[in-house]
Amino acid sequence: MRGSALRWTLSRGVAAIGTSVLGCAIALRDPEPASCLKGYPVSGPSSKVVHELSFGVDPKIAVDFTWWLATYVKTLLQLPGMQGAKLLAPTAPFAPKPGVVFVLGGPGAGKGTQCSLIVEKCGYTHLSAGDLLRAARSSGSAQGQMIDEYIKEGKIVPVEVTVKLLVDAIKESGAQRVLVDGFPRNTNNVSGWQQVVGDSLTVGGVLFYDCPEEVMQERLLERGKTSGRTDDNLESIKKRFKTYAMETTPVLQYYEHQQLVHRIDGVRPIDAVWADSKAAIDKFEACFAAATKQPISVHLYSSNDPPTAVAEVVARVAKAATQKFGEGAVVVSGRELAIQGSFKAYGYEELRAFD
Ligand SMILES: *[C@@H]1O[C@H](CO)[C@@H](O)[C@H](O)[C@H]1NC(C)=O
Repeated sequence: MRGSALRWTLSRGVAAIGTSVLGCAIALRDPEPASCLKGYPVSGPSSKVVHELSFGVDPKIAVDFTWWLATYVKTLLQLPGMQGAKLLAPTAPFAPKPGVVFVLGGPGAGKGTQCSLIVEKCGYTHLSAGDLLRAARSSGSAQGQMIDEYIKEGKIVPVEVTVKLLVDAIKESGAQRVLVDGFPRNTNNVSGWQQVVGDSLTVGGVLFYDCPEEVMQERLLERGKTSGRTDDNLESIKKRFKTYAMETTPVLQYYEHQQLVHRIDGVRPIDAVWADSKAAIDKFEACFAAATKQPISVHLYSSNDPPTAVAEVVARVAKAATQKFGEGAVVVSGRELAIQGSFKAYGYEELRAFD
C-alpha cells in the first residue's frame, strides 16, 4: 500500500528528489509554490486553499525534524477541511552564510569609533573596502597587479574586480559576522556587490551614522591637528563632503526602501551612540539567526469547507515542535497561497488508507 501511495503521488507529475519520508503521499521536492499544482486533473475532491507552512530549522536537528514533521502532518490532516499534504525540501545541502553589515557615514561621523566597539563587544570582523584595495595593490598579488595596471593607465577598475577582492577577504577571514566599512559608497558599488555576491552572503542591513557637516568638519579639523592625514584640511574636507553626499545619498535611499537602514544620530557622545549601535546589531543578529536555519516547507491542501485558519495550523505545529525540539530550534510561519479556481490535490480517502 505504501509503495502505491508514492506512485500515486509521482504519477501526478511531482518530481521527487528524495525518498518519500513515510512512503505516504508526501514527496520531497523543490519548493516551487503553487506552480507544481498546475495540471492536476480536476476530478475527485477539489482543494480550494493551500496553506504553506515555512519552517526555519536548526541544521543540527534538520533530519530528525523532517522525520517528525512527516508524522506530525498526519495529525494536521485530521483538522477540518484538510485533504492532503506535501513536504517540500530544498535540493542543495544547507550551509550557513556569513552575515554582513554595511557601515556608512560621512567623514568624521564616528564610524571608526563605533566599528571598533562592535568588533570588541560583539565579536565582528572589521573590513574596510578602501584598506583592502590599498593592501592588494601593495601586495603584488595577481589581482593587485591587475588593479594597479588599471589605475596606472588612468582607467576605472571594474567594480566586479574590487568587489571580488572584498568578498574574497570576507570568505578568507572565515568570520561569520563582518562589518564592511565605507561600502557601498555609490550605486556602482551596489550593483557590483549584487553581481558578485548574489545571495551567497546575508546582508543584515546598513548602519548609517548621521551627522551634520558642521559637526563633522569640526571633528576632522580637530583630528587633522594630530592625525597627520593630509586630507584633514578644510579644502579637501569640503570636497569629501560633497562627493560623499552626492554618491551615498542614493545608496541610502535604495536600502531605506528595503527597510534595511539603521539611521543613528552621530552627534551625541560616544556612549549614547553606542547604545543605538548595539540595538541595531541585536536586530541584525535576529535576521542572521533566521538565515542560519534550514528552510523546510509543507503545503497543506484544504477544501476550505469548513476552513481551518492558517494561523491555527501554525500555532499547533509551533507548539508541538517546541515541545519536541525545545525553544528556538524551529521557527514557523504560514501563509495562504492564492489559488485560482480549484484543483485536485490528493484524494482524502487515499491518504487515509495509508495511516
Ligand atoms: C566603490 O566605488 C568607488 C568609486 O567608484 C571605487 O573606487 C571603489 O573601488 C568601489 N569599491 C568597491 C569595493 O568596489
